[in-house]
Formats: sequence, structure tokens, C-alpha cells
Amino acid sequence: MSDEPLTCASAPSAQGARERDDKGERVRDIFRAIARKYELFNALSSLGIYRLWLRRVARTAACAPDDRVIDVAGGTGDVTFELCRTCPPASVELTDFTKEMLDIADDHIAAGKARGVAVRTTVADAMDLPFEDGSFDVYTVAYGLRNFSDRELSMREARRVLRPGGTYVALEFSTPSNPVWRAVYNAYLGGVIPFVGGHLTHDRAGFDYLVSSIREFPPQVRVAEELRRAGFGSVEYHLCTGGIATIYRATAR
Ligand SMILES: C[S@@+](CC[C@H](N)C(=O)[O-])C[C@H]1O[C@@H](n2cnc3c(N)ncnc32)[C@H](O)[C@@H]1O
Repeated sequence: MSDEPLTCASAPSAQGARERDDKGERVRDIFRAIARKYELFNALSSLGIYRLWLRRVARTAACAPDDRVIDVAGGTGDVTFELCRTCPPASVELTDFTKEMLDIADDHIAAGKARGVAVRTTVADAMDLPFEDGSFDVYTVAYGLRNFSDRELSMREARRVLRPGGTYVALEFSTPSNPVWRAVYNAYLGGVIPFVGGHLTHDRAGFDYLVSSIREFPPQVRVAEELRRAGFGSVEYHLCTGGIATIYRATAR
């Protein structure tokens, strides 16, 4: 547990709501523009390491054959299809607020990547999911948390759509604590990501945003505390590749 003071949620204000809308629009514009090149960018920029992390996400989710899963900010479906491969559940609601990302997921479903699992795509905002309370056994979100304009609201919404006892799994970038590894990683973040991303998509500003969203993301103990406040118990996290990324697991109370 951290001794770090936690900031209190501030009172909602019209300006706060406007800032959240602005961030959401900006994020959607970026993913709309890069949708067709997103998977190539992932493969090139991570040298394939993200595949190992995906497998670990699936092992952490450990879906049972009758589980109903929701994959939030699921984009082109990497997590969904890894679950279908590793621990096929009964169904997956693959959701994202950028339709252009889900269009590619639909192409993958048509090509058989769901391996017989009932996967359905739905355009939906992580902070306002169009599903009844307790609809799902497992909730996954990969590289979504840092893009959400109200992270804690997304966690409360996750808690709402999960049944009590349901499993929450999040994968997100994080900052390594080892200073040497951190320096290498920071050089990579500031150089390789905007370079590869900018060349592939001609949207360097978009990739500058993605890098700053990674750098500004809070440490693991803060995210764990937010999950507890949102109504989760048994919160744990596991570092991937020396802390470049972190997998969070929690149980809905
Ligand atoms: C970096 S991509 C990750 C996609 C996928 N989870 C993966 O692992 O490849 C981030 C995704 O989050 C989506 N996103 C960002 N904010 C969102 C929100 N408020 N609600 C739903 N999706 C959101 C974006 O549209 C984008 O597809």
C-alpha cells in the first residue's frame, strides 16, 4: 500500500465536463485517423513484445467457457481475439468509441479470428456503457485507461456492468522504477514512438499526445487505490518487462 496522499475527487463543474469532452474528441480523432495503420504501428513499435503481454492478459482473465466478457476500448480486437484463442468464453462484447477501429475488428471476425466465440462489436463510451447492471463475468481494458477523460468513472462503470465477484483486468503502460531501464524507456518513448507513428500516419502530434499520456499516467499504487474506491476488492498488479507495462486484476464487490 502507498503512503502517498490521494487527491480527492473535485466537485463536478461545467468547465471540468467541457475539458473531458475535449479530451474525448481529441482521442477519438487520433484513433479515427490511425485506425487502418494501428496494428502495423503496434507490431513495429513494440518489436512484438505486446503479443507476450496480451497472452498474460488472457491468462490473468482466465475466462471460463460460460463467461460473458466485455472488452472495453477494445479497438481492433487484440484482447478479444487473444481470449478467444487462449480461454474461449461464451461471448465477448467488443466495445470502443471509435467506429473506425471496430470496423477493422469486424473484418477480423469475418475472417474467423473469433474462432466460433460469439463476438459482437458495439460503439460505446467507457464512461457510459449501454449494458444492464451485472451483465458480465469478466471486464478487460488494454491501453484504454490512460485515454479516458475520467478514469475513475470508467472504473465505477466497470463495477456496475460486472456481476458481484466478476473479474476486472486492465493492461496499461507504466514507468519502470529502475533508473537505467527508465532512461532507456524514456529515450524510446520520446524518439521511436513519435518517429514510427509520425511516418506511418503523418500525424506526429497524435503520437506526441500518446507519449505524454503514457508519461503522465499515475503509478500503480494510485491506480489500485482508484479501483478500491470504485468498488473493487482483491486488487493486485503485475509488472511486465521490467515495469514498462502493468496488468491490474481486481474483483467486483
Ligand atoms: C491504444 S488503443 C487500444 C486498443 C486495444 N485495446 C488494443 O489492445 O489494441 C485505445 C483505444 O481506446 C479507445 N478509447 C479511448 N477513449 C475511449 C472511451 N472513452 N470509450 C471507449 N473507447 C475509448 C480508442 O478509440 C482506441 O481504440
